[in-house]
Amino acid sequence: MDIDIGNALDAVAAPGVSRDYLDRLDERVADAHERIERGMADDEFGYAALNLPARVDTAAIRDAVAPLADAETVLTVGIGGSALGAATLTDALDTDGDAYYLDNVDPAQVSTLLDDLDLESTALNVVSRSGTTAETLANFLVVREAYEERGVDWTERTLVTTGESGNLRDLAAEHDLPVLPVPDGVPGRFSALSTVGLAPAAILGVDIEAAVDGARRERDALTGSLYETPAYAYGALTYALAARGANANVVMPYHESLETYAEWYAQLSAESLGKEGLGQTPVRALGATDQHSQLQLYRAGPNDKLVTFVHARDGPDVDIPETELAGLDYLAGASLGDLRDAEFEATEASLADVGLPNVRVEIERVDAASLGGLLYGMEAATVLAGELYGVETFTQPAVEWGKEVARDLLGGAEALDEKETLRVTRE
Ligand code: PA5
Repeated sequence: MDIDIGNALDAVAAPGVSRDYLDRLDERVADAHERIERGMADDEFGYAALNLPARVDTAAIRDAVAPLADAETVLTVGIGGSALGAATLTDALDTDGDAYYLDNVDPAQVSTLLDDLDLESTALNVVSRSGTTAETLANFLVVREAYEERGVDWTERTLVTTGESGNLRDLAAEHDLPVLPVPDGVPGRFSALSTVGLAPAAILGVDIEAAVDGARRERDALTGSLYETPAYAYGALTYALAARGANANVVMPYHESLETYAEWYAQLSAESLGKEGLGQTPVRALGATDQHSQLQLYRAGPNDKLVTFVHARDGPDVDIPETELAGLDYLAGASLGDLRDAEFEATEASLADVGLPNVRVEIERVDAASLGGLLYGMEAATVLAGELYGVETFTQPAVEWGKEVARDLLGGAEALDEKETLRVTRE
């Protein structure tokens, strides 16, 4: 993973960051790096996630998924960190079958999906670190019933990934289901490179070893300086820009296959850093599509955001055929990739032109190794930013609050009285 932060420096952008400030910040990065290395050495909660490239047992994952190797489709039931890492990998990479994710509890979506799936050839991958998340357990019960109604033995098709205790662990024991452990010390949103993110990808033939190798290379590149470590350059920059009024971070990959990556990053950043009045609001965008929608606001709206482009240097391409249509000479001899890259560079320049800070995150190509490196790099960037902000990166009290209150309400608790109502209806 490479980072180009030139368009976020104060010579180009306002708010921008000066070289002097970066030099001073680099001293804090060195301290933060020491703290991170200590946390990793002690396998402290959260920091342990950065050890995954050295610790994850891909052979054990392959063994656990072997009985499901004939599946043509993998249906993962999980939410948040229990789904987004896997979805990023399977949505971005070539797979030997289809991956579906049931995270939401939208009755219409659940029933349409179940109607469409051939459950005979579908592996059911149930993932919950806590083993108690209401959405996941409810969706699992609905899916299990669908298997039973169609006379398919769900116990033969199910893999469970969960922590040491909880409803899911009990259920797996009762039905003798294969279980993969969520590693100790790894919060959900940092679990993409563990059993959680890698198992569904492995069922669908993804080279998970290459993903781990790519992550390991990024891990080995961590030093105590933002000038030497792309991940830290990004983490430090997001922190510095937020302090200067860049309240949002628009994550804009220029590859359709990386759209889910933006969703993954949004969770990682928001849930890790959105604390004590701090953090940036992550915004998901997609190039070139959003050049025809959101770009108007980015260039001419309030200068209160950072735009992070994600671009792969190499990849498949399609030539644009010659045409008899007038006025299209500029497309002669070009490919769709050339056009996409021209759109990307134009957008970058257009934002620099109005002083809107933007950063280029570049990977070699959209493959397992580069993606592993990108996921690891962004996790390290987020941990570094958390150290600079001084927040508890690895907790999510607001998310837990929501889980508890929803459970209480379902259990018959009084409706919350915080909500004011001002209903406007048509006459
Ligand atoms: O990052 C997190 O901790 C959360 O987003 C969790 O992944 C999410 O709430 C799901 O939790 P669980 O895996 O316990 O079902």
